[in-house]
Amino acid sequence: MNLHPVSTFKAPKGTYDLIPPDSAAFLAVREAISAPLRRSGYGYIETPGFENVELFSRGVGESTDIVTKEMYTLTTKGGDELALRPEGTASVLRAALEANLHRGGLPVKLWYSGSYYRYERPQKGRYRHFSQVGAEALGAEDPALDAELIILAHDAYRSLGLRNFRILLNSLGDKECRPAYRAALQDFLRGLDLDDETRRRIDINPLRVLDDKRDAVQQQLVGAPMLRDHLCEACKEYHERVRELLTAAGVAFEDDEKLVRGLDYYTRTTFEFVHDGLGSQSAVGGGGRYDGLSEMIGGPELPSVGWALGVDRTVLALRAEGVELELPAATEVFAVPLGEEARRALFTVVTELRRAGVAADFAYGGKGLKNAMKSANRSGARYAVVAGERDLAEGVVQLKDLESGEQAPVAFDTVVSELLAKRG
Ligand code: HAM
Repeated sequence: MNLHPVSTFKAPKGTYDLIPPDSAAFLAVREAISAPLRRSGYGYIETPGFENVELFSRGVGESTDIVTKEMYTLTTKGGDELALRPEGTASVLRAALEANLHRGGLPVKLWYSGSYYRYERPQKGRYRHFSQVGAEALGAEDPALDAELIILAHDAYRSLGLRNFRILLNSLGDKECRPAYRAALQDFLRGLDLDDETRRRIDINPLRVLDDKRDAVQQQLVGAPMLRDHLCEACKEYHERVRELLTAAGVAFEDDEKLVRGLDYYTRTTFEFVHDGLGSQSAVGGGGRYDGLSEMIGGPELPSVGWALGVDRTVLALRAEGVELELPAATEVFAVPLGEEARRALFTVVTELRRAGVAADFAYGGKGLKNAMKSANRSGARYAVVAGERDLAEGVVQLKDLESGEQAPVAFDTVVSELLAKRG
């Protein structure tokens, strides 16, 4: 086999491949984030990787960077205008409405895990293809639901061993109080010295200006009207309940009145999980309430709340904190046959072990003892089962503990039960 020529193709810009052994951490993160959801009444949903482009332009918002700059759009041969999904919320809501889930008991609680696509400027932690695990609770206006979701994300991160994350919390008001605030903010912003693009933003999405990262802009924002002072009684009361429930659950958060988020559908509760070891792409997850989104995409009134956590950034955050995940051994037993007869015999042992739930692998490709033992060590297996013609003639196999190096013959017929017993 000539292993030298490599493909001339590379993963597209802003993407990367998940490859063993690193890919194991991604699976573990997905599992850890989804486990608390599965224990809390959330059912699994999977939607297509692409949708009608209008679902996102209407749902995520015409003025957002995601819709104006970052969508991968395509026209099919049949003339349909589609977009690779840049996020999950609009799709999940579309699917739930289409399946009439909202006509059953409310809230409808759903979780998902998958790939998302945004044409962003790639940098560490910011990719064009990335992975999220998300949760959406549709059809209930209840502060306990907002709190539940934040607590579940918090507990998921904690269960992974993550420590240095913070929760930023804000309320964006509702259709009662936001319009008046928006107008007051626009009046204030129009009096500032801003570039043309930012001026345009004042008209379409003035709240986003508060989020501007540039010092020259931030300095002028001192004294800007803040939404907190314009929230209606109902929004204030709602937000207070969410805060109380989080506090009662021992979940610390920081009030961040400038937290706006990059999607237009949010109302009331918004939050972000940020990690301080990630540089500029510090948001490991985020979400909030979106009481008007269903109507925006042609559905009934369906107040809802949800979040999505970034798997890629969570893995980076774990690395930044030096957290070693306790991953189950990929291979527990590795079989090393010497000769044809031993290959047949040990292959049945491996199959039996697998059927008994033991992770087992085999030295394929007719390797010699030295190479086969190298593979056994590389596999991470604790035990090697080695056998040659002479062992088989005596009715035994050699059982080698790869940690201590000790080796002893074991009767061929009892090797599976012996290994099961060792495993406890
Ligand atoms: P988002 O804040 O746009 O919200 O994305 C959630 C998380 O996905 C981010 O905090 C980040 O960890 C990850 N993420 C986003 N873009 C990238 C990227 N280019 N590269 C790597 N990771 C990225 C949403 O998507 C909303 N749908 C969340 C939501 C659910 N709100 C309500 N329900």
